[in-house]
Amino acid sequence: MSLIPTAQQGARIVTRHPHLMANYARQEINIVRGEGVYLFDESGNRYLDMVAGIAVCALGHAHPRITRAIADQAATLVHCSNLYHHEPAGILADRLAELSGFDAVFFCNSGAEANEAAIKLARKFAWRKGEKERTTILACNGSFHGRTLGALAATDAPAYKEGFAPLPSGFAFTPFNDIDALSSAIDDRTAAFIVEPVQGESGVLPATPEFLAAARDFCTQRGALLIFDEVQVGMGRLGRLFASQLYDVQPDAFTLAKSLANGLPIGALIVRGDAATSLKPGDHGTTFGGSPVPAAAALEHLAIRDVLDLDAHVETVGALLRNELRAIAHQWPDVFEPPRGHGLMLGLPVREGHKASDFVPHGLDFGLIINAAGRNTLRFIPPLIITQDEIRDAVQRLRSTIAATLAS
Ligand SMILES: Cc1ncc(COP(=O)(O)O)c(C=O)c1O
Repeated sequence: MSLIPTAQQGARIVTRHPHLMANYARQEINIVRGEGVYLFDESGNRYLDMVAGIAVCALGHAHPRITRAIADQAATLVHCSNLYHHEPAGILADRLAELSGFDAVFFCNSGAEANEAAIKLARKFAWRKGEKERTTILACNGSFHGRTLGALAATDAPAYKEGFAPLPSGFAFTPFNDIDALSSAIDDRTAAFIVEPVQGESGVLPATPEFLAAARDFCTQRGALLIFDEVQVGMGRLGRLFASQLYDVQPDAFTLAKSLANGLPIGALIVRGDAATSLKPGDHGTTFGGSPVPAAAALEHLAIRDVLDLDAHVETVGALLRNELRAIAHQWPDVFEPPRGHGLMLGLPVREGHKASDFVPHGLDFGLIINAAGRNTLRFIPPLIITQDEIRDAVQRLRSTIAATLAS
């Protein structure tokens, strides 16, 4: 245990657990409770959470209706093998199909698993059509699709891959937002092109509408599947339920995870057209995929979204946050570039000579949880229910954080 004095809050006690594997660079804070947009540490300090578990808790922490849905389902049926039908997963699949206009849903437990399923489905789809040479999965430079070996093979950043060779073969990369390069890269060996509509881990970089529209055309013309990785951007983060709706481009398949069940582990692969029937019994599966409790939480999440009119809300508060971040970039022009992103997925790029990760621990001293993503970017992905007053409060804390970081 250590005691960390803070600028604004009480001293922070941090109890460490030495047997947790050291594969994360954890911040010096022990979080014990959450409520709405706030997290609380073991000393009772309160933090405004501008990260939401990395775009997970869209409705905030401990939402009473989600809590009740989880408890009710846990008291009814916690687990049921995928060898049988059960209602929560079945109804959730129906609901996602209805909302997306797609045909079939496969449930798993995480974003990486959803992308693994998408990769396997793309290859099996080509194989079933007799196109046995069509195996390449094309991804973008700067992509992040997860840490399992297949998803990692589709991830660009060398740092994530170092020391894990050999990775599965049959993966290729093309520059993000470069239509000419994409045109050359998609050919008759391409099983699928997988793309994040806004690259998250590599620093909140939105695809241009032209790039995604061109991807749609090239994939259709050349017989490849277009897959959107909506693990981070889906479920309303960009101000539309799905990123495909914001961009008005229909992929053949897309993946969801993170906020789908507002904090419980779940992932989904959602597919339309002929590809939707390419996985047959025995081709793919997972014990816990679409488990009743996460599925019930996801259904409740969707029901609450309807009542809250969240898309309009995200547009309003997202515009406010973007304006405030623009003002910060204006105030510290040597430190920050103008913000980028959509809705409530915004990045504030940090200029050379400063490090985004340096601001994060100082944020804790001012009761603010922020996150550093790739390309030296501060990333803001708060709960979607955040109010305008809470945004203003966060920005005030951010200004204090910046001043303290630059003074240190
Ligand atoms: C776009 C994207 N895809 C996939 C993943 C992997 O998801 P998970 O960590 O649930 O495996 C992430 C996680 O950050 C992500 O942002």
